[in-house]
This record gives sequence, structure tokens and C-alpha cells, in this order.
Amino acid sequence: MKAVYPGSFDPITNGHLDIIERAAGLCDELVVSVAVNIEKTPLFSVPERVDMLREVCAPYKNVKIDHFHGLLVDYVEGIGAQAIVRGLRAVSDFDFEFQMALMNKRLKPAVETVFLPAASDNMFISSSLLKELSKFDAPIKDLVPPSVEERLKAKLRKDNR
Ligand code: PNS
Repeated sequence: MKAVYPGSFDPITNGHLDIIERAAGLCDELVVSVAVNIEKTPLFSVPERVDMLREVCAPYKNVKIDHFHGLLVDYVEGIGAQAIVRGLRAVSDFDFEFQMALMNKRLKPAVETVFLPAASDNMFISSSLLKELSKFDAPIKDLVPPSVEERLKAKLRKDNR
């Protein structure tokens, strides 16, 4: 099975990485794809997010990194994948994720959404909280890969100049 793990990944966290590792173990090929979302104002550009993903996913041989514009289901079908992977942290994620999964199913019935529960240690990690913590110089070690921690610090230093 070929699956797509889509997201904003602004930036990738240890929570995302755990889902990537476990999903990669379930499918033949996993494409981790950054959504180019015109509604959001990301901290990192698409090439920066793709770069960080490439760096931290290098050990996983069946994981590819990509980005996409437009509707997720069109992209999934276009690259010949059969499933969408999403991580679920808490009940608060459920409403939005369920809504998206049902809408995607309606748009392309052949594409399945597979949910993986977040590891209990990662339930509270989110990219937005990490960005907020970094802005206030709070420690984020163990919440993101070391290279991402560096990039976050560098980015926020630059932005605060
Ligand atoms: O990491 P995120 O921000 O929670 O990821 C959300 C994402 C990118 C998976 C979602 O916004 C998406 O699929 N965007 C692409 C546009 C699309 O297909 N929208 C309709 C979803 S039903």
C-alpha cells in the first residue's frame, strides 16, 4: 500500500515523527507531503519545511517527502496512493479529523483515511505550542528533533531582530 501523510508540518515535531515511523512500518511507501495552504501564514516556507522533513526522515527508506497544492484527495489519487494517514492526539482533534475524513471519502470513495493514535508521551505536542514556547525561549528539547530545535531558534532570532 502507498499512503500519504499530509500536514502543515510548521515545523515537524516528535509527535509527527512518531506517526511517520509507525505508518512507514505499515505501508510499502509513505509520502509525507506538506500542504501549501493559502489560508495559513506559516513560520517556515514550504522549501524549509520540506528540507526539515527530508533531514529527519532520511533513516526511513520507504518514506518520501513532497508538497502539494489544492485538494488532498486529488493529490493522493494523482500519485497513485490508496490511503491518507492522520495522527489523533486527543478528543479535541477528533471532530475536525472525522469531518475531513468523511468529506475526503465523499470526494473520492476509493481513498481511505487511516488514523493512528498519538503515543501518550506526544499527546500534548503541537507545532503551534512549540512556536509559542520558542518565542519565549522556553525549553523545547525532546519535543522536536534537535535539527528542528536549532532551526526554530535561528528563525525566531532572525524574526525578532
Ligand atoms: O497539519 P494540518 O494543518 O492539521 O493539516 C491539515 C491538512 C493539510 C491535511 C488539510 O488542511 C488539507 O487536507 N488541506 C488540503 C486542502 C483540502 O483537501 N481540503 C479539504 C479537506 S476535507
